[in-house]
Amino acid sequence: MSLDLTERRIALITGGAGAIGMASARRLARGGMLPVLVDRDGTALDIAVAALRAETGQPALGILADLLDRAAPHAIMARVAQAFGRLDCLVNNAGLSGARRIGEVAIAEWDAVLAVNLTAPMLLAQEAMPLWQARHGGSIVNIASRVWLSGAGPGYTASKAGLIGLTRSLAVQLGPLEVTVNAVAPSYLGSGFNFDGDEAARRRAEQEHIRLGVLDRLATAEDVAGAVAFLASADARFITGEVLHVCGGAQLAARPASAEVTDGRA
Ligand SMILES: NC(=O)c1ccc[n+]([C@@H]2O[C@H](COP(=O)([O-])OP(=O)(O)OC[C@H]3O[C@@H](n4cnc5c(N)ncnc54)[C@H](O)[C@@H]3O)[C@@H](O)[C@H]2O)c1
Repeated sequence: MSLDLTERRIALITGGAGAIGMASARRLARGGMLPVLVDRDGTALDIAVAALRAETGQPALGILADLLDRAAPHAIMARVAQAFGRLDCLVNNAGLSGARRIGEVAIAEWDAVLAVNLTAPMLLAQEAMPLWQARHGGSIVNIASRVWLSGAGPGYTASKAGLIGLTRSLAVQLGPLEVTVNAVAPSYLGSGFNFDGDEAARRRAEQEHIRLGVLDRLATAEDVAGAVAFLASADARFITGEVLHVCGGAQLAARPASAEVTDGRA
């Protein structure tokens, strides 16, 4: 498919082949942006890009890259610069979980979790600087997690809390370029994302803390995508450095120290 490079706004979504990445890409495409999905899973990436093209009838692009590779952010932004010469929205969504208990943390895994969840978003923002500078205005949306408040596995929690810190720093740094930088912090979706514990117990524990009880459900990828689309929209142009919790109110509760809860990663 040949890409329409005229005034179309470009959204780069890491982990774009996953649940939240794909839902976000769909919403941003519906808002008129051209989605560029980055993922390390080539098969899932091809399927996601083809689905987006079929659904929207519009162009979409996939970039196969592993964000564990420190050189990947440079290569990704070089590709975006070459293809489009602009970047309007960066969604740092790719994530790794890691060991749930402190005794199980292996340093190689700790490094990998921090590399994907925290270092890659910083490097991508850094590599996007020439694009932001050439053309003022844009947004970064970092997908954090409610665990930055409640605590879960050490590496995952530290990386997501660090991502909130990075969000605040980048909001200050990129403010003069009129780039807004915000985070979305979802609660557990009940699917995907490497959860290998007792799914039913986890779901029950999660639901206990959801304040929107009448809905009797967990967060969905579409709930998260709605927040992403809002923060990337003109309606949010005066909002920066914020954390938007997509938790049904679960961020309001202090969580009890049960095994179920400390096992939680999302
Ligand atoms: N699912 C949840 O319950 C939940 C809750 C809160 C926050 N989050 C966060 O949302 C984000 C997306 O989660 P999801 O539920 O859509 O997960 P998912 O597993 O459906 O998607 C994650 C995607 O990221 C890609 N990815 C992982 N490591 C990568 C790497 N090194 N380089 C490139 N791509 C890589 C995967 O291939 C996958 O397509 C993550 O940052 C996660 O921490 C998820």
